[in-house]
Amino acid sequence: MNQEELKAVFDKQADGYEEQQRKLAPIHDGLYFQLEWIFSELPQTARILCVGLGAGAELSYLANRFPNWRFTAVEPSGAMLDVCRNRAEKEGFISRCTFHEGYVESISDIDLHDAATCFMVSQFILDDGVRSKFFRNISKRLKPAGILVSADLASAAGSPEYKALLKVWVSMLHAANVPVDAIERTHSAWAKDVSILPPDDVKAIIRRGGFDSPVQFYQAGFVHAWFSKRSP
Ligand SMILES: C[S@@+](CC[C@H](N)C(=O)[O-])C[C@H]1O[C@@H](n2cnc3c(N)ncnc32)[C@H](O)[C@@H]1O
Repeated sequence: MNQEELKAVFDKQADGYEEQQRKLAPIHDGLYFQLEWIFSELPQTARILCVGLGAGAELSYLANRFPNWRFTAVEPSGAMLDVCRNRAEKEGFISRCTFHEGYVESISDIDLHDAATCFMVSQFILDDGVRSKFFRNISKRLKPAGILVSADLASAAGSPEYKALLKVWVSMLHAANVPVDAIERTHSAWAKDVSILPPDDVKAIIRRGGFDSPVQFYQAGFVHAWFSKRSP
């Protein structure tokens, strides 16, 4: 899937996205909870770059906990960004946000950020070199030693562990009332349009993107998350 096709997929999902994510909240709660502590060393007036933030769950979590932080929200899907903007307005932090409909490389602002989040985004980049370049573009927008927290689906596709996780994952989606056809669509999309790699491979991709020794701090099913600092 090219960037335009991927954007169209997320434009189409924007309406029901928040509701669907709410059903899977326990998967993400532990990630957000730790994000707060990973970022606790940042200054009172930090600037955070949120890349591919969809409906803005991670933005909302941080903005509500850190009332003086400012955010750059980067999202190629205009429909998703609208949902995110509405949420920021409703929750009262819109004045601290700059919204950029597009990609990290097309941000015009030259000020550097103290940290970045990038949740469930790089997995859609199928070529490992392009995926590292994606992280490299994020690193260029960070101050020296700026912190990246990223999350992606990861596992060794086809391995016994992958198969075991998949069984649990599908049961979880059924329990969350995700329609059966949507579950089937998700799984066939994984095979074709999502790069699910072993966690160590994702770590190496992040490192080649300009970040020091990524630390995996979280796993829930296929969701894995790492924190790292921009290399000098
Ligand atoms: C699975 S959603 C995740 C949304 C949100 N981060 C979350 O965890 O709920 C992936 C988002 O990344 C966006 N996206 C896809 N490719 C991107 C890219 N190259 N740069 C920035 N965002 C991208 C999509 O439009 C979509 O909104």
